[in-house]
Amino acid sequence: MLRQSETGAFISGQELCGQLGVSRTAVWKSIRQLKEAGYQIEAVQNKGYRLLSVPDILSKSEIESRLHTQWAGRPICYFDEIDSTNTEAKRVAEGAAGAQGHGTVIVAEEQNAGRGRRGRDWSSPRGEGIFFSILLRPDMNPANASMLTLVKALAVAKGISKSTGLEPAIKWPNDVVINGRKIVGILTEMSAQIDYVNHIVVGSGINVHQKNFPKELAAKATSLDMEMSRLGKEDRIYRAAVLAAVLEEFEKYYRTFMQTQDLSMLREEYNALLVNCGREVRVLDPLGEFGGKALGINERGELLIHREGGTVKVSSGEVSVRGIYGYV
Ligand code: BTN
Repeated sequence: MLRQSETGAFISGQELCGQLGVSRTAVWKSIRQLKEAGYQIEAVQNKGYRLLSVPDILSKSEIESRLHTQWAGRPICYFDEIDSTNTEAKRVAEGAAGAQGHGTVIVAEEQNAGRGRRGRDWSSPRGEGIFFSILLRPDMNPANASMLTLVKALAVAKGISKSTGLEPAIKWPNDVVINGRKIVGILTEMSAQIDYVNHIVVGSGINVHQKNFPKELAAKATSLDMEMSRLGKEDRIYRAAVLAAVLEEFEKYYRTFMQTQDLSMLREEYNALLVNCGREVRVLDPLGEFGGKALGINERGELLIHREGGTVKVSSGEVSVRGIYGYV
């Protein structure tokens, strides 16, 4: 209620009690808890309370009070510290409430065993990023699941753009980049039978408040704060606002994807953000590297490469793609 009141306006204790159906003491206790959590709230006799500033935290209520989705992030399960949000999402999926859970989001301030693709670690320092996983239970052929990673990349790129004004792009298949450097990593994991999906977990790590990266990553990684200051923007980034925007975009794109269970209706939007589009790339194929010009994805999410002798399709499970001058 304090957030929703007009900027600078006080809300009286009486109004809070009346609207929430609680006692004055309960209001007073909640205000004290909020202050302890880092909210700056001014209390003035005969006027009431007003919100002066909010902390950048990823608590359930901070996220939910900004969320306008039907199912994505319903519920939000918040952890101060966890091994990996992907691992926790799998535990939820396999637990007692296992039959449900579609849309559940696991989010943590810190991961002590964050995982990246190809068995790598994902550094997840406290308060610096947004580490979260969405649990999905789609009724679909497991062969289509890998395309969800591209759907997520599109959603994260759009969500970041809407909530920060920055302009992310996508490096095929699912790295989100700004200024040629990676800002988001996505890890999709699935439990399935040959023709049936038990569940899918799509996890993302968004770099937000890092001020620099270790030497070996410096040319390849960036954070939202670093990109804001490069553009001379001073706005503070609220991670809960970015996450809420990403979840809203994901819900929208997921709905479109499920209509056809492929990317035919999202392909154009994805290709418009694809940093590789029209560029010379090296395809790191275990059967032999080759070069060509990236043309964009087809409806299956495969990258079309124009090379001598015609156009070939490459799929993300088999190859990776590099720019000829570096990472993108
Ligand atoms: C990559 O290697 O690019 C993928 C990185 C994925 C990291 C995210 S952080 C939230 C979720 N939990 C994990 O353990 N990994 C993913």
